[in-house]
Amino acid sequence: MVTEISSGKAAQVHLLTLQVQARFGIQPSRHVESKLKHIFKHTAEHELGAWVAQLNQLPSTDGEWLSLVESLTVHETYFGRDKPMLSMLRDEVMPMLLSRKENAGNPSFKIWSAGCSTGEETTNLVLLLLQAMYSLGLATLSGNGELVPLPNWRLEVVGTDVSRQAIATSKNAQYADFGMGSFRDFSDQELKQFFVKVDNVADAMPGVNYYRARPFVLRWLKFQQHNLLSGRPAVIGCDLVICRNVLIYFEDVVKRQVQEIFHDALLPGGVLILGGPDVLQWPQRYQRRFGNGGAWYVRKD
Ligand SMILES: C[S@@+](CC[C@H](N)C(=O)[O-])C[C@H]1O[C@@H](n2cnc3c(N)ncnc32)[C@H](O)[C@@H]1O
Repeated sequence: MVTEISSGKAAQVHLLTLQVQARFGIQPSRHVESKLKHIFKHTAEHELGAWVAQLNQLPSTDGEWLSLVESLTVHETYFGRDKPMLSMLRDEVMPMLLSRKENAGNPSFKIWSAGCSTGEETTNLVLLLLQAMYSLGLATLSGNGELVPLPNWRLEVVGTDVSRQAIATSKNAQYADFGMGSFRDFSDQELKQFFVKVDNVADAMPGVNYYRARPFVLRWLKFQQHNLLSGRPAVIGCDLVICRNVLIYFEDVVKRQVQEIFHDALLPGGVLILGGPDVLQWPQRYQRRFGNGGAWYVRKD
């Protein structure tokens, strides 16, 4: 998509990309600039200038900024994304953390999925956690396939994203099953155990089935809007923080700031999981471990 605009407007757009970077971490790129050029192609140069000047006075939490960022973020996500990493979480990372909590007499588990997009990753984490608990005898399996933690356990799995639209979709928790949709890499057996078909979906795509996680999964989920550049973690006291396919959009200095808040969010001994291409920015603060699905980082005391 190449949209030609006047050089004056192009300069305004460029200034805007710098602000977007400073406030939300999203790096100026040809992709971002061309999206902005497309958005403003019918706006007069003086109007654009006035709007940018006005926008610069507003806090990043203002709806105007959030609406703009909505159109610049990439929300690609699906259940079962990066299977080796998810299996490693279920079979190695979560059992280690759960056993530690149990031995310490603190039967609780908190996860932060940062940059969760439309909620598939966060929901997937609940499934993995319940499976890991079941393997350790910390959850029971009912006749109709429900995995239920022992009553003394408290679980909290929180997904956050800067996009209000993505968070609204996460809360609605209704996912379409079509070719490259949310279930593209998910087994039928898991779909049957953890999800239930939703009928009468408003604006449903013809011929597409929709599913929502069953109540025994949904009860542990929370979603909230949060900008990773806000300087504070969305959640604290976490056993596990996971952030995949988000930091790749940020420049190095921002990656460092964001990983600093992940450190603040974690309990000592808690685990940080990053995406495959992400580099750990504070290696001295973690013990690095390698599993079948890649690296994971244990926060030092
Ligand atoms: C490609 S999705 C990744 C979703 C999921 N983590 C996964 O791996 O499947 C990237 C998400 O990062 C979010 N994001 C980008 N900048 C952000 C920021 N400054 N604060 C919070 N979320 C941000 C986007 O809105 C988008 O939903």
